[in-house]
Amino acid sequence: MRIGVDYYPEHWEKERWKTDAEMMAKANIKVVRIGEFAWSLYEPKENDFHFEWMDEILDFFREHGISVVLCTPSATPPKWMVDRHPDIYQDDIHGQPKIFGTRKHYCFNSETYRRLTQGLVEKIAKRYGSHPAVEAWQVDNELGWANTTRCYCDKCKKEFQNWLKEKYKTIETLNRVYGTVFWSQIYNSFDEVIIPRAGACYDTCHDTQGQNPGLLLDYYRFSSDSVIRFAAESAETIRKYSDRPITSNLLDAAINSGTGIDYFKLAQHLDFVSWDNYIEFQWGIAEAATVSRDHALLRSYKKQPFWVMEQQSGPCGWSKMGPAPTPGKLRLWTYQAVANGADTVVYFRWRACSFGTEENWHGILDHDGKPNRRYREIVQIGSEMERLSKMLGVLSPKAKIAVIKSFDSEWSQSIHRYVENFHYDEFLLSFYKPFYDKGLSVDFAAPGDDLSSYSLVLAPALLMVTEAEQKNLEDYARAGGTLLFTFRSGIKDVCNNMLQQTVPGVFSELAGVSASEYDPQFEKETASSGVYGSGVSKLWCDVLEPQGAETLGVYTQDYYAGKPCLTVNSFGKGSVYYLGCDLSSDAMERLADYLCARVGLDQRPCPVEGVEQVDASDGKQRVLFLLNHNSSAAVVPLFGRFENLLTGQSEGSTAMLEPYGVAVLKYPEA
Ligand code: GAL
Repeated sequence: MRIGVDYYPEHWEKERWKTDAEMMAKANIKVVRIGEFAWSLYEPKENDFHFEWMDEILDFFREHGISVVLCTPSATPPKWMVDRHPDIYQDDIHGQPKIFGTRKHYCFNSETYRRLTQGLVEKIAKRYGSHPAVEAWQVDNELGWANTTRCYCDKCKKEFQNWLKEKYKTIETLNRVYGTVFWSQIYNSFDEVIIPRAGACYDTCHDTQGQNPGLLLDYYRFSSDSVIRFAAESAETIRKYSDRPITSNLLDAAINSGTGIDYFKLAQHLDFVSWDNYIEFQWGIAEAATVSRDHALLRSYKKQPFWVMEQQSGPCGWSKMGPAPTPGKLRLWTYQAVANGADTVVYFRWRACSFGTEENWHGILDHDGKPNRRYREIVQIGSEMERLSKMLGVLSPKAKIAVIKSFDSEWSQSIHRYVENFHYDEFLLSFYKPFYDKGLSVDFAAPGDDLSSYSLVLAPALLMVTEAEQKNLEDYARAGGTLLFTFRSGIKDVCNNMLQQTVPGVFSELAGVSASEYDPQFEKETASSGVYGSGVSKLWCDVLEPQGAETLGVYTQDYYAGKPCLTVNSFGKGSVYYLGCDLSSDAMERLADYLCARVGLDQRPCPVEGVEQVDASDGKQRVLFLLNHNSSAAVVPLFGRFENLLTGQSEGSTAMLEPYGVAVLKYPEA
């Protein structure tokens, strides 16, 4: 539990560094991240390398007792490079090359770019791999940011054809699994296979370009693999010279809405994961629950503590700006991160830059570099973190509930959405939130992960699974686990084809139910009632026929009134629920109550609206965080005599929270 900053020494006169380092030390800032966009300083002309400037920076921070996360600078290939090697450019979905002038304009499959990147990474890693100031490494920056995971150039086409050959071996197999007989798309050889650029149907089907769904899903997987290979190459090169841990800064699932990279797979190549947390900026304002969900995702990708590598610390935007963080919010956001398992929170950025695209992107300090209100808040946070980390170390909340997140299902659902307003990530959030609102920690898990530590596993719209993943879910239920599926689960094969089995396809036996038909809720909604009281579905209704399962809810409207919408089946020692429809949020809350009671999860929702309660107990420590997201003070009733670790006082029957205030409470001794 500690704080750091993203720092750009190259943006400031050297004379200023000392003032900055002293101000950082005063705020207990322990780590700086540097160098992620500095290629043209390392190599201003091809093969003309300069390292003295970075030597000086690293020595400077070592002398000041601040450690460094050193980045590989591949996010911004310099101008000489794109001029001399135009083949490094990425092409957009229309086949147009990207241009120089912003960043991330390179193709992950460009041999030239891979070679040039590894050449420089090798030099940096060799020179600084054991430098005492270097504590960790960051590979690239926000891989996949701004739709850059999927490139549509000829280099990618060639690589994709090789990838397909490796996967399917014969073109006949590919034709069969893609169903290329549909619309006369049969290929005679792998060289003929296209990449799914914006095509003839682009204007009518701009979601998916109307391309073959099997081909699209494979292209998404291939693109994700290409980015991961690129990151893994840098990580491997660093590992030859350095034993310091390696990360990359991932993006959230909400405001930046996913990158098309399978983060579970990327995480396997990293020593720890980190992410960039912007909450109120030019492009939107995130709700507390979505931020908490993102922290939970990060905690889950590697099942260990994570970092926030860029935490908003000022008013942010490029052309326009979001609001200035109200007093208390930087502290609140920091506590929200550590409560959910963050080890280190690094603020973006130390000081607003007076030039370049991000001249409006404020950090802790404004352009004038003077200590300000936000800096004073950071000083407070830094000293609190210093004390708390001695008492608590890093927290890893132990969740008893997991939501299955499948990147295959997410991408498949982005290709064919089934019904307007159905978004995989939002749907997952609707299962996370009711438990979050009850103060229960929820992890995310890949369908093949070990689920044995969870009392309840929710698998919303799990469209497709491999045989091994199916077995994993069956084993979990058989051994006594409680599992819940929803509509649009188990209906596709891994090639993205609809199964010819009755819905819910591969999960029919587990769920003990089949759907005699389904009704997409196109401009309509349907009422139901059940163990969740009454509910309304706005997305989808599977009309269920129990095959051994017990009915827990029925539709009360339309021609399928009286037909089941929610069932539970006994499977081995476990229970498998099937929810055939979506439910309004109040009904989801009640369904969560019901499920908690069935699996014996003791919920203690915070009675004050807008106060987030995170139980960060991890088996060793028993700690409860109260986070007031309200602009007014809150008085929160407590269920025991807690010790407030920030004040050292024992709390009475209530805890008082300032507007945007926090409390870190140690549970009473049992
Ligand atoms: C992030 C990025 C940073 C900076 C920041 C503000 O997405 O990693 O380099 O650009 O946003 O725009």
